[in-house]
Amino acid sequence: MTEGTQSKRFEPKVPVQLDPPKDDLISTEELAKCDGSDPSRPTLVAIKGVVFDVSRNAAYGSAGQYKVFAGKDASRALARSSLKPEDCVPEWYDLEDKDKTTLDEWFTFFSKRYNIVGKVEGAKNT
Ligand code: HEM
Repeated sequence: MTEGTQSKRFEPKVPVQLDPPKDDLISTEELAKCDGSDPSRPTLVAIKGVVFDVSRNAAYGSAGQYKVFAGKDASRALARSSLKPEDCVPEWYDLEDKDKTTLDEWFTFFSKRYNIVGKVEGAKNT
């Protein structure tokens, strides 16, 4: 991709050094345990089946404003700007285009800030 305004969108204010993405398979059960409540586990959020380690941001921790996303594939909620627990589900493929665009923007936002630590087992992500 050429260097344009688009590629600079959603850049973190403070540069983040990211590790190479991993493609380990993570079960939904394991993902659910990584919801910020267990200090021995990382805090994880998945988007379109791709799992991000958000541990360094207290907003996803057990007292954080975005804790509802932790331990889940929250694609649908992110796409629709919802904080409802019932929207924190992976199903995004039936959404309207504008919501799919919002979701892709969140994917870009997360991928510029958080390490990719794996993929949700069985996720539909195309
Ligand atoms: C009253 C409404 C809201 C306010 C005042 C608010 C405020 C904020 C602020 C100040 C940030 C930090 C921005 C930054 O780091 O540059 C943020 C980030 C964020 N907001 Fe909201 N927000 C609101 C509603 C929502 C809703 C409805 C969603 C649901 C999708 C949402 C999802 C997020 C997410 C995922 C982040 C990124 C956190 C991160 O990883 O850095 N917000 N919000």
